[in-house]
Amino acid sequence: MKEYRITLLPGDGVGPEVTRAAREVLEVVAERFHRQFKFKFDTHLIGGAAIDATGEPLPGDTLTACRASDAVFLGAVGGPQWERGPKRPEQGLLALRKALGLFANVRPLRIYPELVDRSPLKAEIVEDVDFVVFRELTGGSYFGEKKRVGDTASDECVYSVGEVERIARAAFIAARARRGKVTSVDKANVLETSRLWREVVSEVHARDFSDVRLEHALVDSMSMQLIRQPRAYDVILTENMFGDILSDEASVLGGSIGLAPSASVGAGGPGLFEPVHGSAPDIAGRDICNPVGAIISAALLLRYGLRLHEEADAIEAAVESAIARGARTSDLGGKLSCTAMTDAIIDRLHQGDSAHHRVQMHWG
Ligand code: IPM
Ligand code: MG
Repeated sequence: MKEYRITLLPGDGVGPEVTRAAREVLEVVAERFHRQFKFKFDTHLIGGAAIDATGEPLPGDTLTACRASDAVFLGAVGGPQWERGPKRPEQGLLALRKALGLFANVRPLRIYPELVDRSPLKAEIVEDVDFVVFRELTGGSYFGEKKRVGDTASDECVYSVGEVERIARAAFIAARARRGKVTSVDKANVLETSRLWREVVSEVHARDFSDVRLEHALVDSMSMQLIRQPRAYDVILTENMFGDILSDEASVLGGSIGLAPSASVGAGGPGLFEPVHGSAPDIAGRDICNPVGAIISAALLLRYGLRLHEEADAIEAAVESAIARGARTSDLGGKLSCTAMTDAIIDRLHQGDSAHHRVQMHWG
């Protein structure tokens, strides 16, 4: 029997709660699929929890375990108690992304029809919205030199041709399997890195992907268009910081950031799968957070980390079905706890509902 090694990094805040939910769902999937494979889970420290225990946000044995696994699931990192310390929890996540070479952060947005009324936007604007953000994850100002000299601070923003090319290719390949359109977002009217970005994306397009439609947008205008006409987008391709900001903006279109999943993948090693929502310290430990972002991230782990497509579809279908039957956590105006929402999804997984919709995001 095939055994997949999955490293779990619960981290901080609501991280442990949603990681437990994702793990339970994965265990049910392993049971349901005729015991053809099993998962071996291994839990390690990251973020603030790791700082408290070891002084380091990414301890060496955590990185070793991640490298040796088939996929990594992360809950969340960060919290107010670590804001003043010499080391920040977020450094652990950034170091992990860099060490595993996870240059492509993929954040699909889908709208559950029954949750359209939870969106802050009008139903006619958000209905049928279906796009995916391809955010470059290991470059830009996140990783440039950071300096503090006297009363002045700076963060260097650096991109090389190769770094832009590889994320652009991933986005074009994904677009081919979807509706065939890429919107590349930059600030080319001001930033030199953005001018390089635009040139390289256009070159990759002309050379290898002229069958895909490409448009360029400036990030300020894009943040407005994303609210005005979110249906216009298919694949949104952008650099690290713009992608961080736009993906949070995008995540609420569907009603709650608690629904949003993400996959970070790179040059062939294990991928990292995590909900978009972060550690949410204000609601941590109360069993009220929404586990859907984490559970869909577990589906992405199966599909893009382990190539278990049918199993990933089953999780997405179970989530759809639970939501269609009225399962709601408090962020969605309901009363279910995180545990009860997870149980409602597991119940549908046992029923074997089939998927209506599947996020298309293949890359080479
Ligand atoms: C995200 C988060 C991280 C980021 C933080 C926690 C460092 O906001 O994954 O979007 O900025 O990349
Ligand atoms: Mg973010």
